[in-house]
Amino acid sequence: MVRFPSSFLFGTATSATQIEGGCATSDWFEFARQPGRVKGGDRPDVACDAWQRWEGDVALQRSLGLGAHRMSIEWARVEPRPGEIHRASLDRYREMVGALRDAGIEPMITLHHFTLPAWLAERGGVLADGFAERLAEFARVAVAALGDLCGRWVTINEPNVLAAQAYLLGEWPPGAKNALAAVRAHHRLLEAHVAAYRAIKDARGDAAQVGVAHHLRVAQPDRPDSLLDRAAARTFARVFNEAFATAICEGRMYGPLEAVGKVGALAGARGFRVAEARGTQDFFGINYYSRDVVRFAADRPGELFCWRRVPAGAPVSDLGWEIYPAGLGLLVRSWARRSGVPVYVTENGIADAADGKRAAFLVDHLTELGRALAEGVDVRGYFHWSLTDNFEWAEGYAPRFGLFEVDYATQERRARESAHVYAGIARARAV
Ligand code: FCB
Repeated sequence: MVRFPSSFLFGTATSATQIEGGCATSDWFEFARQPGRVKGGDRPDVACDAWQRWEGDVALQRSLGLGAHRMSIEWARVEPRPGEIHRASLDRYREMVGALRDAGIEPMITLHHFTLPAWLAERGGVLADGFAERLAEFARVAVAALGDLCGRWVTINEPNVLAAQAYLLGEWPPGAKNALAAVRAHHRLLEAHVAAYRAIKDARGDAAQVGVAHHLRVAQPDRPDSLLDRAAARTFARVFNEAFATAICEGRMYGPLEAVGKVGALAGARGFRVAEARGTQDFFGINYYSRDVVRFAADRPGELFCWRRVPAGAPVSDLGWEIYPAGLGLLVRSWARRSGVPVYVTENGIADAADGKRAAFLVDHLTELGRALAEGVDVRGYFHWSLTDNFEWAEGYAPRFGLFEVDYATQERRARESAHVYAGIARARAV
């Protein structure tokens, strides 16, 4: 049995576009209208209708006795046109965050969770001139409106995933397939994180704890005695998993990525140096889902010569992602040490429509976390992805990540069995 201290936060995580609906001013609203972009032609137009039903969703969290919730605020709602702040949206978010607090649920707010105002996307999105300053200004607006209610802020969600999906694989807006653009996006997002971090700290000082939600996977060589597999796994880890996090922890990036960044004209981040990112975090956020077992593949230069596979017979989610709880333990230990700041698991969850695996998934991942805690690793909280089923980006509505099942025809929410298991762990503070 592992135990969690009374200060440890058990919560859920969501993001605006994936649940809210009713926002026609974002890049994803437009992207999903293009044929072939999202599976099944699904669109985030209504999603879980949480923009209207948020009070009920706070009640769901309360019904589980959870003490924390990570949410994002939709930039496209708050600033639907350049420089035009939509007060009513901020007021709504204030009501939501206030209601969480009243229910004894600690909020954590993400500023940028993959989506942008359409006007900013048209100007080049994260590669647009002045993107960093735009995000910093949005941070100032958000913190002025909500800072007294919220002490934990995430500047950017999964910058590495965004750079890869949007600029390398072309699966998310703007649908680009350009390795150089993906590297530039990495640098631009890093510059923007630093600007937003400083904006929040200038406004709130120590009253705001600020970090990034890093998407981290575990990369392991398929054949541990193969030099090539080891090199491939290491390269994948450095370029995809660790570049952004290393920049913030140590002020440097993996060599080739940093080299591109230094060529200002290519990186486009005027005057920004990776070294400036060092220490721009008060906590280290980890979004953990799965691992990659990597085999060297000479025919895959575009994928860093990596063939990433799931070991035969390994348990997988509905999306085919390997379920590998030990990876969470490895990551929290390693990044607690490398970052020197407290760690939060800002996301962890499973697509499991039948709910046959989620309970064990929760038990096994939280057991890993509890073991790390017992060794003295400073982990402060766990946010399960997700509270309800939701719009899973290019995968549409098919993957079911919710502790609560959503019937999209009626918008009814129904607790899955695993929700009660999670509530029991949170109540007992033990697993
Ligand atoms: C993460 C994203 C989140 C959700 C989960 C399943 O990569 O941060 O928005 O899509 O995956």
